Amino acid sequence: MARTTKWWGAMKAASAYQHHYEVQKLHYKYGDFVRIGPNELSINNEEIVGVIMKCDKGPWYNLGLPGPGTQLTRNRETHKIRRRIWDRAFTDEAVLQYLPGVIVKSSELLSLLKVKGPVNITEFFNYYMWDSMGDIAFNKSFNMLPTHGKQDKYMRITLASQFGVAIFGHIPYMIRILDLIPFMNSEYKEFMKWCEDLVVERKQREPKTKDIFSCLLAAEDSNHGIGAVGMGSEARLAVIAGSDTTAATLANIFFYLGSNQEVQKKLRDEVDLLYSAYDGDEEKMCRDLTPNGCPGTQYLEGVIREGLRIYAVLPGSPQRIAPPEGLTIDGTYVPGGTAILISQYTTTRDPRYFEHPTKFIPERWFEPEKYPLTHKQKAFQPFWSGTYSCVGKPFAYMQLRIVTARMIRSFEVALAEGTNEEKLFKDARDMFVLYMGKIELLLTERNME
Ligand code: HEM
Repeated sequence: MARTTKWWGAMKAASAYQHHYEVQKLHYKYGDFVRIGPNELSINNEEIVGVIMKCDKGPWYNLGLPGPGTQLTRNRETHKIRRRIWDRAFTDEAVLQYLPGVIVKSSELLSLLKVKGPVNITEFFNYYMWDSMGDIAFNKSFNMLPTHGKQDKYMRITLASQFGVAIFGHIPYMIRILDLIPFMNSEYKEFMKWCEDLVVERKQREPKTKDIFSCLLAAEDSNHGIGAVGMGSEARLAVIAGSDTTAATLANIFFYLGSNQEVQKKLRDEVDLLYSAYDGDEEKMCRDLTPNGCPGTQYLEGVIREGLRIYAVLPGSPQRIAPPEGLTIDGTYVPGGTAILISQYTTTRDPRYFEHPTKFIPERWFEPEKYPLTHKQKAFQPFWSGTYSCVGKPFAYMQLRIVTARMIRSFEVALAEGTNEEKLFKDARDMFVLYMGKIELLLTERNME
């Protein structure tokens, strides 16, 4: 049915929000090139990587209502202009300015995690990352962590709107039709209004430290292609792109640390050594971990990469269009105008590209002789590369390094009863970004005397 209508994808997505598992099954059955729409291919072959990074964005990006933010902008020139503005918010210097806020917020996270009994770590990381993105985007905390989500109305509405993205991403024209009907899409409209209000409110303050909107607002009046509607969409992008992705990666990392005590011990030994090397100067240590990691942290880097690989947080990956002349990938010709995507979930779990792909093995990233397939690293593209790659990658890495190191220094981690890999996969939802279900952990404070 997939070859005749895109409604197949929409129906599969709507039935369980696990489109990525369906696509993986199709790859098992039919091979590397699978038709998932009348004019759309999912491709599970690492040879596509270098090629697809140069292609234009596909019709999926027509989802941007009322106007596209940078990520949803299909026109290459307009995207380039907008992207340059975002880049200014993620230079090495800019990212270091976000560090004090990350240290304060992560300390808050650590103290709130000092509780008896199981904690739903997915929720904690979501609250933490939302607050963090509030800080670096608008110099404003959303207060999710301290209120344990009592303010999470907009987080819930975002989630609801992401259900729409999961379904209507397959049939983007429908979102425009539904948008014309009064009361349809009302939650999404409320969320967009909230994003626009964030911008209006941010304009009325001049914060002491620069944030993403210092860069975006400075460009607002200078014919850079971001009008008032665009600013609301950029606010939406800032809130969603940074928070859900990083939170899901942290949740993956801590699930696998909780389920693998040997890996956890190796990581903790390395982190303890790091703390000794810095003689307790945590701030300096965190500064050195940003943005490229310190020497002697290969295990930490391996753990983070495994967290990004083992369950890709963009499981279906971004959609692109083959250029008019078409493409040849590993001997197979793809006609011009075909929508193409890499099924990242399938590719990062393919034994042709990663040894024992379903196992969490941090060593694979720094023992090339033992793990030659992983060492090629071609199939590992969590942040994408090229023109449309993730602008927030340095900030995401900073968060992943600091939160992982600080948490593993503070707590022994174990899975709570009922939390296991089968449940992890059953509860996860592909809504373009991966949403993890409830992951319950037992955190035991370490005695640091
Ligand atoms: C583990 C964390 C993250 C992952 C795996 C990730 C991954 C990605 C990917 C694959 C894209 C390309 C999407 C597309 O082409 O449609 C992207 C775009 C983007 N990401 Fe991230 N991201 C992460 C964290 C962040 C953070 C912390 C920010 C901070 C604001 C951020 C901001 C953005 C923005 C603004 C774009 C659009 C870039 C453009 O179109 O030029 N991301 N991200």
